[in-house]
Amino acid sequence: MSADRVVLERSTDTSLTVHLFGATVVSWKCNGSEILFVSKNSLFNNKKAIRGGIPVCFPQFGPWDLGPQHGFARITTWTMEQEPKTLSGGDVCAVFTLNDNEETRKMWNHGFKVTYTLTLKETEFVSDFVVNNTGEDPFSFTALLHTYLSVSDVTKTTVSGLKGLKYVDKVRDGQTFTEDRELVSLSENYDRVYMDTPSGHIVHNVTTGKTVIIKKTNLPDTVVWNPWEEKAKAMGDFGDDEYPKMLCVEAGHVSSPVTLDPGASFIAGQVIVAK
Ligand code: BG6
Repeated sequence: MSADRVVLERSTDTSLTVHLFGATVVSWKCNGSEILFVSKNSLFNNKKAIRGGIPVCFPQFGPWDLGPQHGFARITTWTMEQEPKTLSGGDVCAVFTLNDNEETRKMWNHGFKVTYTLTLKETEFVSDFVVNNTGEDPFSFTALLHTYLSVSDVTKTTVSGLKGLKYVDKVRDGQTFTEDRELVSLSENYDRVYMDTPSGHIVHNVTTGKTVIIKKTNLPDTVVWNPWEEKAKAMGDFGDDEYPKMLCVEAGHVSSPVTLDPGASFIAGQVIVAK
């Protein structure tokens, strides 16, 4: 464990590594296979969001009038509230928190606490994401877990559970379309916000042929993103040749905001299973 990284370890080949900058999960090794993608050009300078793993977007997904794109959570150092603890049965759990502070108040003048609890199991990991309004006024936010999956060839990876759903296509002027494919695969710059998605997606052909199941609670939207060749070249913290090796399948509450009254909580979660 280095000063800014926390490791939840079940065994030498099953572990989760969390960087305190953004509480970004930067590695999930499941029985020896790395499931998450992190760019070789990610800066890790504690200024720019980590390019890969699972950055947390809060209190905004996307461009923001009050602060940086995707909010401040992914570019703020979180507190480890509970260090990795082995539970009966061998699962390992750790808790990270983010509270309002002088910096967050300059952008978003609200009192809040985000509690992010990560539990590593044998072939899955569970993220519980809770936002409390600790202030005196109601506030609204959007939130998303920006999961970068490692794939061997993105054109051969498929995502289930999207057929018949409406999506906003960010590469086609934000127009809304309806998905007609049973299994979605990508072959171009892809940036779609699918709305009212089911509680699970099966992603085939992740990393070395693995299947990943993403189960979500209270996160009604799913963003599917890959910058493809041209956009990848324009990104300073992403290798030109890396786009075929990653696919973002992002669970969020983004197409409509959540509003929380003082004292109220928003409770959401994601479970990722690797088979
Ligand atoms: C996705 C968005 O979630 O994140 C894209 O839908 C965006 O529009 C991408 O380009 C990456 O964002 P960033 O700020 O990490 O470069």
